[in-house]
Parts: sequence; structure tokens; C-alpha cells
Amino acid sequence: MAEKSPNVVWHSGHVTPENRRQLTRNAPAVVWLTGLSGCGKSTIAMALEQSLIRSGHLAFVLDGDNVRHGLNGDLGFSVDDRTENIRRVSEVAKLFADAHVIPICSFISPYRADRANARKRVLPHPFIEVFVDAPLHICEQRDPKNLYKKARASAAAGKPMAFTGVDAPYEPPENAEVRVETNRQSVDQCVEAILLALRGRHILLESA
Ligand code: ADX
Repeated sequence: MAEKSPNVVWHSGHVTPENRRQLTRNAPAVVWLTGLSGCGKSTIAMALEQSLIRSGHLAFVLDGDNVRHGLNGDLGFSVDDRTENIRRVSEVAKLFADAHVIPICSFISPYRADRANARKRVLPHPFIEVFVDAPLHICEQRDPKNLYKKARASAAAGKPMAFTGVDAPYEPPENAEVRVETNRQSVDQCVEAILLALRGRHILLESA
């Protein structure tokens, strides 16, 4: 991206990472859920957030639909807009991780390259990619927002809406840290699998 603000300097604060660890009970990290619309990302994200908060760990969900109401309300679903969506969100996620609040990012994020860039952008913090896997036909049966129906009808009328899985691609992760299958596992089991990955990386500190 073109640099439009060259004369800026970095300001360091007085709060140490240890101060933040004590306060949030977390080491910095980003949780990133990717998968088709209707695969269960938001449900798992909200349940994970609740579980973390209940056990005394600060976490916050950044959800595609929600973020598109504000910060990314100017973006649509073209390849470029999705890339910009993921770029902005990964920068926000980095800030959350810097603050030791675990961002639980729930975005279709259909392109491998965008997810790989997000991973790079949040460095040196760990990026826990979670593939929320469910077959397309199951997501389409669920169709909680009636969007698959709408997308099929639009495509049939010759007005494709670039809907993921219908007339836009989804590139599944090849090396996600966690994979959950929402047509076989309960929400609790999916959340537990993610918590296991966080504990295994010493991201969740035991209570004082
Ligand atoms: S992403 O592809 O850029 O990562 P994001 O997760 O922010 O997408 O937003 C996806 C949500 O937008 C879906 O859950 C769905 O409700 C809605 N949506 C509206 N139009 C589309 C579309 N063409 N493709 C995918 N999702 C869409």
C-alpha cells in the first residue's frame, strides 16, 4: 500500500507486557476462525468468548457481519474488498493482541493468501487458525440468513452476487492449527478443541 503518512514516529508506553499479563490473564495471541457462511463460525466464536470470560481471560469477538456494520461498512464482496476487509481486521486483531485481549476473529476469509498475510501481520504473536469445517450442502441446508437461497436465485437470474460457495471460491486451510467439524461435533466440543490449542501454547495463564 502507498505510504501516505511518512512523518510519523512510534511512541512507546509505560505499561509492560507483564503488567498486561497480570491484568488479562493472557499471553498475546489471535484466534482466527475461517469457513463458509453458515458453517458455525459466529456460534463458536461467541461460545468461546463466553467461556474465556467466565474463566477470567479477556477476549473479544470480531465478527464479519458486525465489523461490516461499522469499520468495514464501505466494503463489499469483490476479491479486492474481501482482501481489504481481512487486512483491516488483522491490523485491529494485532492491536487487541498487543493489549493482551484475545481477539476471536470470525470471518469467511476465503482466500489462503489473505489469511497468510493476516498471520504475518500479527507477528510476533501466535496466530491460531481454526478451520470451521462443514460441507457446503449442510451450510446451504442450514441457511440461517436465507442468503444461499438468495444467491442461487440471483445466479439463476444471471445476476451473480459473488456468494462464497455458490459463485465465489472458498480455499480451505491446509495447515490450520485447529480443525473442527460442526456437522459432527457439538459447540462445546469445538470450543474445547480451541481451548486445548490455547492452553497447549501457554496462552491462558492460570488464575493468580
Ligand atoms: S469475507 O469473505 O470478507 O471474510 P465476512 O466474513 O466479512 O466475509 O462477511 C461474511 C458475511 O456477509 C456472511 O456471513 C453473510 O452474512 C454476508 N454476506 C453478504 N453477501 C455475501 C457474499 N456475497 N458472500 C459471502 N457472504 C456474504
